[in-house]
Amino acid sequence: MKIEKVAVVGTGVIGNGWIARMLAQGYDVVATDPAEGAEGRMRKAVDQSWPFVEALGLAEGASKDRLTFTKDLAEAVQEADFIQENVPEVEELKQMVLQNIDRHAKPDALIGSSTSGIMPSELQANMNHPERFVVAHPFHPVYILPLVEVVPGKQTSTENVERARKFYEGMNMSVLLVRHEIEGHIADRLIEAIWRESLHIVNEGIATTEEVDKAFTHGAGMRYAQYGPFLTFHLAGGEGGMRHMLKQFGPALKKPWTKLEAPELTDELYDKVVSGCEAQSNGMSMSELDQNRNEFLIKLYDLVQEYWPQEQKKTKV
Ligand SMILES: NC(=O)c1ccc[n+]([C@@H]2O[C@H](COP(=O)([O-])OP(=O)(O)OC[C@H]3O[C@@H](n4cnc5c(N)ncnc54)[C@H](O)[C@@H]3O)[C@@H](O)[C@H]2O)c1
Repeated sequence: MKIEKVAVVGTGVIGNGWIARMLAQGYDVVATDPAEGAEGRMRKAVDQSWPFVEALGLAEGASKDRLTFTKDLAEAVQEADFIQENVPEVEELKQMVLQNIDRHAKPDALIGSSTSGIMPSELQANMNHPERFVVAHPFHPVYILPLVEVVPGKQTSTENVERARKFYEGMNMSVLLVRHEIEGHIADRLIEAIWRESLHIVNEGIATTEEVDKAFTHGAGMRYAQYGPFLTFHLAGGEGGMRHMLKQFGPALKKPWTKLEAPELTDELYDKVVSGCEAQSNGMSMSELDQNRNEFLIKLYDLVQEYWPQEQKKTKV
Protein backbone atom coordinates (compact mmCIF):
# COMPACT_ATOMS: atom_id res chain seq x y z
CA MET A 1 0.00 0.00 0.00
CA LYS A 2 1.40 3.38 -0.98
CA ILE A 3 1.40 5.88 1.86
CA GLU A 4 -0.32 9.09 0.79
CA LYS A 5 -2.33 10.35 3.71
CA VAL A 6 -0.90 10.59 7.22
CA ALA A 7 -2.53 11.41 10.55
CA VAL A 8 -0.86 12.99 13.57
CA VAL A 9 -2.46 12.39 16.97
CA GLY A 10 -1.42 14.92 19.63
CA THR A 11 -0.15 18.29 18.42
CA GLY A 12 2.31 19.32 21.12
CA VAL A 13 6.02 19.89 20.65
CA ILE A 14 6.66 16.58 18.90
CA GLY A 15 3.38 16.21 17.00
CA ASN A 16 3.86 19.65 15.45
CA GLY A 17 7.43 18.74 14.52
CA TRP A 18 6.19 15.62 12.70
CA ILE A 19 3.51 17.68 10.93
CA ALA A 20 6.10 20.11 9.53
CA ARG A 21 8.33 17.25 8.34
CA MET A 22 5.43 15.34 6.77
CA LEU A 23 4.03 18.42 5.00
CA ALA A 24 7.52 19.27 3.72
CA GLN A 25 7.72 15.79 2.23
CA GLY A 26 4.49 16.35 0.28
CA TYR A 27 1.99 14.38 2.35
CA ASP A 28 -1.61 15.25 3.12
CA VAL A 29 -1.73 15.53 6.91
CA VAL A 30 -4.74 15.33 9.21
CA ALA A 31 -4.05 16.33 12.81
CA THR A 32 -6.09 15.86 15.96
CA ASP A 33 -5.82 17.08 19.56
CA PRO A 34 -8.64 17.65 22.06
CA ALA A 35 -7.01 20.60 23.84
CA GLU A 36 -8.56 24.06 23.68
CA GLY A 37 -6.69 26.23 21.14
CA ALA A 38 -4.66 23.29 19.80
CA GLU A 39 -5.32 24.10 16.13
CA GLY A 40 -4.09 27.69 16.48
CA ARG A 41 -0.94 26.60 18.31
CA MET A 42 -0.31 23.91 15.70
CA ARG A 43 -0.60 26.32 12.76
CA LYS A 44 1.67 28.83 14.49
CA ALA A 45 4.26 26.13 15.16
CA VAL A 46 4.15 24.97 11.53
CA ASP A 47 4.54 28.59 10.32
CA GLN A 48 7.57 29.03 12.57
CA SER A 49 9.24 25.86 11.39
CA TRP A 50 8.50 26.40 7.68
CA PRO A 51 11.57 28.54 6.83
CA PHE A 52 13.75 25.75 8.24
CA VAL A 53 12.06 22.93 6.34
CA GLU A 54 12.27 25.10 3.21
CA ALA A 55 15.99 25.51 3.82
CA LEU A 56 16.33 21.72 3.97
CA GLY A 57 14.30 21.31 0.76
CA LEU A 58 10.61 20.78 0.03
CA ALA A 59 9.27 17.81 -1.94
CA GLU A 60 7.28 18.54 -5.09
CA GLY A 61 3.76 19.67 -4.20
CA ALA A 62 4.59 20.21 -0.53
CA SER A 63 2.35 22.81 1.03
CA LYS A 64 1.09 23.98 4.40
CA ASP A 65 -2.38 24.05 2.77
CA ARG A 66 -2.40 20.27 2.82
CA LEU A 67 -2.87 20.30 6.61
CA THR A 68 -6.32 19.79 8.12
CA PHE A 69 -7.37 19.60 11.75
CA THR A 70 -10.22 17.91 13.59
CA LYS A 71 -10.94 17.33 17.25
CA ASP A 72 -12.44 13.96 16.38
CA LEU A 73 -9.79 11.23 16.58
CA ALA A 74 -11.87 8.70 14.62
CA GLU A 75 -12.31 11.16 11.75
CA ALA A 76 -8.60 12.00 11.77
CA VAL A 77 -7.36 8.44 11.44
CA GLN A 78 -10.02 6.65 9.42
CA GLU A 79 -8.55 7.36 5.99
CA ALA A 80 -4.90 7.57 6.97
CA ASP A 81 -2.27 5.17 5.63
CA PHE A 82 0.11 6.07 8.43
CA ILE A 83 -0.65 7.38 11.91
CA GLN A 84 1.89 8.95 14.28
CA GLU A 85 0.86 9.09 17.96
CA ASN A 86 2.35 11.87 20.15
CA VAL A 87 0.20 12.18 23.28
CA PRO A 88 1.85 12.82 26.69
CA GLU A 89 4.21 10.17 28.09
CA VAL A 90 1.64 8.50 30.36
CA GLU A 91 1.32 4.78 29.69
CA GLU A 92 -2.42 4.43 30.46
CA LEU A 93 -3.26 7.44 28.26
CA LYS A 94 -1.14 6.12 25.40
CA GLN A 95 -2.74 2.65 25.72
CA MET A 96 -6.20 4.19 25.54
CA VAL A 97 -5.43 6.49 22.60
CA LEU A 98 -3.66 3.70 20.68
CA GLN A 99 -6.62 1.37 21.18
CA ASN A 100 -8.89 4.07 19.76
CA ILE A 101 -6.58 4.60 16.80
CA ASP A 102 -6.43 0.84 16.22
CA ARG A 103 -10.22 0.57 16.32
CA HIS A 104 -10.90 3.40 13.85
CA ALA A 105 -7.97 3.10 11.43
CA LYS A 106 -7.89 0.93 8.32
CA PRO A 107 -6.61 -2.53 9.36
CA ASP A 108 -3.44 -2.21 7.28
CA ALA A 109 -2.62 1.38 8.25
CA LEU A 110 0.73 1.57 10.04
CA ILE A 111 0.91 3.12 13.51
CA GLY A 112 4.04 4.70 14.99
CA SER A 113 4.34 6.00 18.56
CA SER A 114 6.79 8.76 19.51
CA THR A 115 7.17 7.45 23.06
CA SER A 116 10.52 8.31 24.62
CA GLY A 117 10.69 5.32 26.87
CA ILE A 118 7.70 2.95 26.90
CA MET A 119 8.27 -0.44 25.31
CA PRO A 120 6.31 -1.29 22.15
CA SER A 121 5.17 -4.72 23.40
CA GLU A 122 3.33 -3.00 26.24
CA LEU A 123 1.72 -0.42 23.97
CA GLN A 124 0.52 -2.91 21.37
CA ALA A 125 -0.77 -5.47 23.92
CA ASN A 126 -4.46 -4.57 23.62
CA MET A 127 -4.66 -3.78 19.92
CA ASN A 128 -6.75 -5.73 17.43
CA HIS A 129 -3.97 -5.38 14.86
CA PRO A 130 -0.76 -5.21 16.93
CA GLU A 131 1.29 -6.44 13.96
CA ARG A 132 1.19 -2.93 12.39
CA PHE A 133 2.54 -1.07 15.43
CA VAL A 134 6.09 0.25 16.03
CA VAL A 135 7.66 2.75 18.34
CA ALA A 136 9.14 5.51 16.19
CA HIS A 137 11.03 7.80 18.53
CA PRO A 138 12.21 11.08 16.95
CA PHE A 139 14.34 13.96 18.23
CA HIS A 140 13.30 17.53 18.84
CA PRO A 141 13.08 19.46 16.51
CA VAL A 142 11.65 16.63 14.41
CA TYR A 143 11.55 18.77 11.26
CA ILE A 144 15.35 19.19 11.33
CA LEU A 145 16.96 16.27 13.16
CA PRO A 146 17.01 13.14 11.02
CA LEU A 147 17.26 10.35 13.62
CA VAL A 148 14.25 8.13 14.33
CA GLU A 149 14.55 4.99 16.45
CA VAL A 150 12.22 2.33 15.10
CA VAL A 151 11.47 -0.32 17.71
CA PRO A 152 9.25 -3.32 16.93
CA GLY A 153 7.31 -5.03 19.70
CA LYS A 154 6.91 -8.78 20.14
CA GLN A 155 3.80 -8.78 17.94
CA THR A 156 5.03 -6.47 15.17
CA SER A 157 5.44 -8.23 11.82
CA THR A 158 8.76 -8.12 9.99
CA GLU A 159 6.96 -6.84 6.92
CA ASN A 160 5.57 -3.86 8.82
CA VAL A 161 8.95 -3.00 10.35
CA GLU A 162 10.24 -2.82 6.79
CA ARG A 163 7.28 -0.68 5.68
CA ALA A 164 7.87 1.70 8.59
CA ARG A 165 11.59 1.90 7.87
CA LYS A 166 10.91 2.79 4.23
CA PHE A 167 8.33 5.39 5.23
CA TYR A 168 10.70 7.24 7.58
CA GLU A 169 13.66 6.95 5.23
CA GLY A 170 11.41 8.34 2.51
CA MET A 171 11.07 11.44 4.70
CA ASN A 172 14.86 11.90 4.67
CA MET A 173 15.22 10.39 8.11
CA SER A 174 18.01 8.24 9.40
CA VAL A 175 16.44 5.10 10.83
CA LEU A 176 18.07 3.35 13.77
CA LEU A 177 16.40 -0.04 14.06
CA VAL A 178 16.38 -1.02 17.75
CA ARG A 179 16.34 -4.82 17.68
CA HIS A 180 15.92 -5.36 21.43
CA GLU A 181 13.26 -3.25 23.10
CA ILE A 182 14.40 -1.55 26.31
CA GLU A 183 13.05 1.38 28.31
CA GLY A 184 14.48 4.58 26.86
CA HIS A 185 15.52 2.79 23.63
CA ILE A 186 19.16 3.58 22.72
CA ALA A 187 19.57 7.34 22.38
CA ASP A 188 17.64 8.39 25.48
CA ARG A 189 19.53 5.83 27.54
CA LEU A 190 22.75 7.57 26.54
CA ILE A 191 21.30 11.04 27.00
CA GLU A 192 19.95 10.14 30.43
CA ALA A 193 23.39 9.05 31.60
CA ILE A 194 24.74 12.52 30.75
CA TRP A 195 21.69 14.15 32.30
CA ARG A 196 22.09 12.23 35.60
CA GLU A 197 25.74 13.23 35.88
CA SER A 198 24.91 16.85 35.02
CA LEU A 199 22.36 16.96 37.86
CA HIS A 200 24.88 15.45 40.29
CA ILE A 201 27.49 18.07 39.40
CA VAL A 202 25.01 20.92 39.98
CA ASN A 203 23.59 19.30 43.11
CA GLU A 204 27.04 18.96 44.66
CA GLY A 205 27.83 22.60 43.88
CA ILE A 206 30.74 21.63 41.65
CA ALA A 207 29.52 23.76 38.75
CA THR A 208 26.57 25.87 37.63
CA THR A 209 24.15 24.79 34.90
CA GLU A 210 25.94 27.20 32.55
CA GLU A 211 29.35 25.69 33.30
CA VAL A 212 28.07 22.14 32.77
CA ASP A 213 26.54 23.21 29.44
CA LYS A 214 29.84 24.83 28.43
CA ALA A 215 31.79 21.70 29.34
CA PHE A 216 29.64 19.90 26.82
CA THR A 217 28.99 22.39 24.02
CA HIS A 218 32.58 23.61 23.64
CA GLY A 219 34.15 20.17 23.77
CA ALA A 220 32.57 16.73 23.64
CA GLY A 221 29.32 18.06 22.16
CA MET A 222 31.08 19.42 19.08
CA ARG A 223 32.85 16.10 18.46
CA TYR A 224 29.72 14.05 19.02
CA ALA A 225 27.95 15.87 16.18
CA GLN A 226 30.34 14.09 13.83
CA TYR A 227 31.39 10.87 15.55
CA GLY A 228 29.75 9.10 18.48
CA PRO A 229 31.55 7.89 21.62
CA PHE A 230 33.23 4.95 19.89
CA LEU A 231 34.95 6.63 16.95
CA THR A 232 35.68 9.66 19.13
CA PHE A 233 37.57 7.50 21.64
CA HIS A 234 39.21 5.55 18.79
CA LEU A 235 40.69 8.86 17.64
CA ALA A 236 41.58 9.81 21.21
CA GLY A 237 43.95 6.84 21.29
CA GLY A 238 46.26 8.45 18.72
CA GLU A 239 48.13 6.06 16.41
CA GLY A 240 47.18 3.15 18.68
CA GLY A 241 43.48 3.97 18.28
CA MET A 242 40.97 2.17 20.47
CA ARG A 243 43.56 -0.42 21.58
CA HIS A 244 45.70 2.27 23.20
CA MET A 245 42.68 4.20 24.47
CA LEU A 246 41.31 1.15 26.32
CA LYS A 247 44.71 0.43 27.85
CA GLN A 248 45.12 3.99 29.03
CA PHE A 249 41.61 4.83 30.24
CA GLY A 250 40.17 1.36 30.81
CA PRO A 251 41.21 1.24 34.49
CA ALA A 252 39.39 4.56 35.17
CA LEU A 253 36.12 2.76 34.44
CA LYS A 254 36.60 0.88 37.69
CA LYS A 255 36.99 3.98 39.86
CA PRO A 256 34.29 5.07 38.70
CA TRP A 257 34.18 8.74 37.67
CA THR A 258 30.41 8.72 37.40
CA LYS A 259 27.70 8.46 40.04
CA LEU A 260 25.38 6.23 37.99
CA GLU A 261 22.19 6.65 40.08
CA ALA A 262 20.16 9.81 39.68
CA PRO A 263 20.25 12.36 42.53
CA GLU A 264 17.07 13.08 44.49
CA LEU A 265 15.22 15.98 42.83
CA THR A 266 15.04 18.10 46.01
CA ASP A 267 13.46 21.60 46.02
CA GLU A 268 16.95 23.04 46.24
CA LEU A 269 18.20 21.17 43.18
CA TYR A 270 15.02 22.01 41.30
CA ASP A 271 15.50 25.74 42.01
CA LYS A 272 19.17 25.65 41.08
CA VAL A 273 18.49 23.98 37.75
CA VAL A 274 15.49 26.12 36.79
CA SER A 275 17.03 29.45 37.81
CA GLY A 276 20.32 28.44 36.17
CA CYS A 277 18.62 27.80 32.84
CA GLU A 278 16.61 31.02 33.05
CA ALA A 279 19.74 33.05 33.78
CA GLN A 280 21.62 31.34 30.93
CA SER A 281 18.84 32.23 28.49
CA ASN A 282 20.07 35.79 28.92
CA GLY A 283 16.68 37.41 28.40
CA MET A 284 15.87 35.45 25.24
CA SER A 285 12.29 34.14 25.02
CA MET A 286 11.67 30.45 24.35
CA SER A 287 10.82 31.20 20.72
CA GLU A 288 14.02 33.25 20.29
CA LEU A 289 16.03 30.38 21.76
CA ASP A 290 14.18 28.00 19.46
CA GLN A 291 14.98 30.13 16.40
CA ASN A 292 18.63 30.41 17.43
CA ARG A 293 18.91 26.63 17.94
CA ASN A 294 17.30 25.97 14.56
CA GLU A 295 19.66 28.29 12.67
CA PHE A 296 22.58 26.52 14.33
CA LEU A 297 21.22 23.06 13.53
CA ILE A 298 20.62 23.84 9.86
CA LYS A 299 24.29 24.78 9.47
CA LEU A 300 25.35 21.74 11.45
CA TYR A 301 23.06 19.53 9.36
CA ASP A 302 24.87 20.64 6.20
CA LEU A 303 28.23 19.88 7.79
CA VAL A 304 27.10 16.41 8.86
CA GLN A 305 25.85 15.72 5.33
CA GLU A 306 29.17 16.87 3.90
CA TYR A 307 31.30 14.75 6.21
CA TRP A 308 29.03 11.70 6.30
CA PRO A 309 28.37 11.03 2.60
CA GLN A 310 26.45 7.83 3.39
CA GLU A 311 23.65 9.99 4.84
CA GLN A 312 22.30 10.54 1.36
CA LYS A 313 18.79 11.56 0.52
CA LYS A 314 16.53 8.50 0.31
CA THR A 315 13.73 8.08 -2.21
CA LYS A 316 10.17 8.48 -1.07
CA VAL A 317 7.93 5.38 -0.77
N1 LIG B 1 9.62 16.71 23.89
C1 LIG B 1 10.60 15.95 23.43
O1 LIG B 1 11.77 16.38 23.33
C2 LIG B 1 10.32 14.56 22.94
C3 LIG B 1 11.26 13.94 22.08
C4 LIG B 1 10.96 12.67 21.55
C5 LIG B 1 9.77 12.03 21.90
N2 LIG B 1 8.89 12.64 22.75
C6 LIG B 1 7.65 11.92 23.05
O2 LIG B 1 6.60 12.48 22.28
C7 LIG B 1 5.36 12.37 22.97
C8 LIG B 1 4.72 13.75 23.08
O3 LIG B 1 5.61 14.60 23.79
P1 LIG B 1 5.52 16.20 23.67
O4 LIG B 1 6.78 16.72 24.26
O5 LIG B 1 5.12 16.59 22.28
O6 LIG B 1 4.30 16.50 24.67
P2 LIG B 1 3.34 17.78 24.71
O7 LIG B 1 2.83 17.86 26.09
O8 LIG B 1 4.05 18.98 24.12
O9 LIG B 1 2.16 17.40 23.70
C9 LIG B 1 1.22 16.40 23.94
C10 LIG B 1 -0.05 16.75 23.19
O10 LIG B 1 -0.95 15.65 23.26
C11 LIG B 1 -2.26 16.19 23.39
N3 LIG B 1 -3.18 15.18 23.90
C12 LIG B 1 -3.46 14.85 25.18
N4 LIG B 1 -4.41 13.88 25.21
C13 LIG B 1 -4.71 13.59 23.91
C14 LIG B 1 -5.61 12.69 23.29
N5 LIG B 1 -6.39 11.88 24.01
N6 LIG B 1 -5.67 12.65 21.93
C15 LIG B 1 -4.88 13.46 21.18
N7 LIG B 1 -4.02 14.37 21.73
C16 LIG B 1 -3.93 14.40 23.07
C17 LIG B 1 -2.08 17.38 24.32
O11 LIG B 1 -3.19 18.28 24.23
C18 LIG B 1 -0.78 17.97 23.79
O12 LIG B 1 -1.02 18.93 22.76
C19 LIG B 1 5.70 11.75 24.33
O13 LIG B 1 5.48 10.36 24.26
C20 LIG B 1 7.18 12.02 24.50
O14 LIG B 1 7.82 11.07 25.29
C21 LIG B 1 9.12 13.89 23.27
